[in-house]
Amino acid sequence: MAAARAAVVCGLGTHLPSRVVTNSDLARELDTSDEWIRSRTGIGQRHIAEDGTATSDLAVEAGQRALKSAATSASTDAVDAVIVATSTPDHSCPATAPAVAARLGLGIVPAFDVAAMCTGFLYGLAVGGGLIAAGTAHSVLVIGADTYSSILDPEDRSTRAIFGDGAGAVVLRAGDPDEPGALGPVILGSDGTGSELIRILSGGSRDPIRPEHTERADPYFRMAGAQVFRNAVERMAEASLEAVARAGWALDDTDVFVAHQANLRIIHAVADQMRLPRSRFPVHLDRVGNTAAASIPLVLADAVTAGALRPGHRTALAAFGGGLTWGAATLTWPDITPV
Ligand code: ACO
Repeated sequence: MAAARAAVVCGLGTHLPSRVVTNSDLARELDTSDEWIRSRTGIGQRHIAEDGTATSDLAVEAGQRALKSAATSASTDAVDAVIVATSTPDHSCPATAPAVAARLGLGIVPAFDVAAMCTGFLYGLAVGGGLIAAGTAHSVLVIGADTYSSILDPEDRSTRAIFGDGAGAVVLRAGDPDEPGALGPVILGSDGTGSELIRILSGGSRDPIRPEHTERADPYFRMAGAQVFRNAVERMAEASLEAVARAGWALDDTDVFVAHQANLRIIHAVADQMRLPRSRFPVHLDRVGNTAAASIPLVLADAVTAGALRPGHRTALAAFGGGLTWGAATLTWPDITPV
């Protein structure tokens, strides 16, 4: 039997809007404080897109950089599929990915969005890996991009304190399951009985926003923070344990755990639940907040730059988001330079 084709990470690129909003900036507008936000979330600042900047603009920047990063590695195949993981698409239809693929000059490749909120990047990796394993694609650009500033209630201190805008992307290519960068097992899950915990009530088919209904419509993102917190800890810990076990690794030999960056207390609780040192979980949210689908590639790039994530490191990824959705994956970190 022919060896299975693995999806190998061969490029990593990121992009953050230049405007930085600190906790003190928020405290000038809302009833909050730097002390509250830092102690309850670990976040010190976030990057916020200028008005008129859409998710595709961030996605194109990150995509270009990932392609540049891949060009310096051994990758040879041209990208022949594009996946954009986002819950803040440019428009409710069509998908954002075809426009991104066109702007990247990738031609008439298949391109589609994946909507799994903060777990979107891991779902995108799983789908991209599946396209490669099936032979449908040879090389897939997976982008996680979100502009949460466009959906937050300006008066909601609990969500505005957390979310920031950004994008991150990887290039996957077909390769050998044993080579560095090859995606190992990906664990995915969902529990739609918790769908009301994170959602935008109005603007979809359940509650369309029509001119005559605007008074009772709620077009903003809402989150039941405390319940989400508990679910996030349990699901990310469980999924990480399962992914590491399926990879055949001992937990102690897993070097780096890249967890979705929603709240530092969540990351610490996951480490504690897994009885692992907190130092194995890189932290980036202090500078960018929760960037939703962009969070995992952004923290990966930051950890590489900081020297915390190095070629050969056994790496687990974990995320949790609205849906509810969650996931985890493993890979041995490849020798690539983030751009
Ligand atoms: N400043 C000051 N006070 C605040 C702020 C703020 N920025 N935000 C909330 N509070 C207040 C609340 O109003 C509440 O006040 P009350 O007791 O008078 O009603 C109090 O703090 C406690 O509120 P909680 O919501 O219980 O606060 P908590 O400690 O849980 O922190 C937070 C809120 C930060 C949102 C936290 O629950 C959290 O991080 N949840 C998980 C987020 C997450 O993981 N999301 C998953 C992905 S999101 C996605 O998929 C898009």
